[in-house]
Amino acid sequence: MIPHIDTKLPKVGTTIFTTMSQLAAEHGAVNLGQGFPDFSVPERLVGALDRAMRDGHNQYAPMTGVPALRQAIASKTKRVYGCQPDVDAEITVTSGATEAIFNAIHAVVRAGDEVIVLDPAYDCYEPAIDLAGARAVHVPLDPVTFAPDWQRVKDAISPKTRMLMINSPHNPSGAMLSAADMDIVAGLLRGTGIFLLSDEVYEHIVFDGARHESALRYPELRERAFVISSFGKTYHCTGWKIGYCVAPPALSAEFRKVHQYNVFCTFAPAQYAFAQMLDAEPEHYEQLGAFYQAKRDHFRAQLLGTKLKPLPVPGGYFQLADYSAVSDLDDLEFCRWLTIEKGVTAIPLSPFYETPPPGQRLVRLCFAKNDATLDAAIERLQKL
Ligand SMILES: Cc1ncc(COP(=O)(O)O)c(C=O)c1O
Repeated sequence: MIPHIDTKLPKVGTTIFTTMSQLAAEHGAVNLGQGFPDFSVPERLVGALDRAMRDGHNQYAPMTGVPALRQAIASKTKRVYGCQPDVDAEITVTSGATEAIFNAIHAVVRAGDEVIVLDPAYDCYEPAIDLAGARAVHVPLDPVTFAPDWQRVKDAISPKTRMLMINSPHNPSGAMLSAADMDIVAGLLRGTGIFLLSDEVYEHIVFDGARHESALRYPELRERAFVISSFGKTYHCTGWKIGYCVAPPALSAEFRKVHQYNVFCTFAPAQYAFAQMLDAEPEHYEQLGAFYQAKRDHFRAQLLGTKLKPLPVPGGYFQLADYSAVSDLDDLEFCRWLTIEKGVTAIPLSPFYETPPPGQRLVRLCFAKNDATLDAAIERLQKL
């Protein structure tokens, strides 16, 4: 007889991304659901990966990451944010941002603690908090602007609060935290025992001349922050699952204890490839905002000719659209209908919430796609 499993994650089922991608495949829909690019990885990066494997970099990498990559990350951080993390003590290469988020939570959050999460939130946060035996305290962002209500965040802080999680540019809304927001966060956390987890995976995808306010720009935040990024987003290779965490030495030391016995190390050849890519072609990440801005503008201009109403997109590669002129269905039902009947797949927003705002009629569309894919989707959306 199989022993009974008393699940540790009763709220977890198949993710909405998998569900919608399966439905898209079944119905031959244009899939603007899951957030992955459908265009090529930079040629230089593919060449560097090929060379790394042929040069024999195929065995375990150092636990903290290949030194050349940590050096390249330190130089990039200095170049972009003006602060240079210590190569040996402050940078850890991980198997995607997902692993880094898990590690950071498990490094410092204990059973009975509380972690403040701003809803709508990326779906890997809460399960990691639950597995640590802690509780996610959900504070909603504004349902229209997706700006934080800092008074509500302040009110949510209790003696049990151990971590605040922020995400800018934000998935799913694309909203960005401003310098004023970061100053407020610094004020809220000052003198407390609360760590900051700053999820910055879309750090280089920012538009209209805006500046990404990394926690690394703020010395007061940096001293209590795990700052997490993902090469998957920056180099169009979400399937490689390589990310990293920058944190002060004491935080990194605990982070690495989890990383060491979670994965030990990360796919070695790609680390050599990213090291070369970061140093040889900084233009790639410097021009990523302009690259995606062209896609955003192209997609958005055409979306305005449909019954969907696009919301502003300051950063990231997702477009939120209000469908209230098309349907009264709730967002899950609307996304099923849109896929099956109209041949376009979007992601509903409600799964990103503990308590979705009543009557919200928004879906998320990913524009990290070739123009041909976006145009095919628009052609179908025009028939709504
Ligand atoms: C906000 C956010 N954080 C983290 C991740 C996970 O990144 P990775 O694929 O590097 O694990 C994603 C991926 O979609 C994301 O959107």
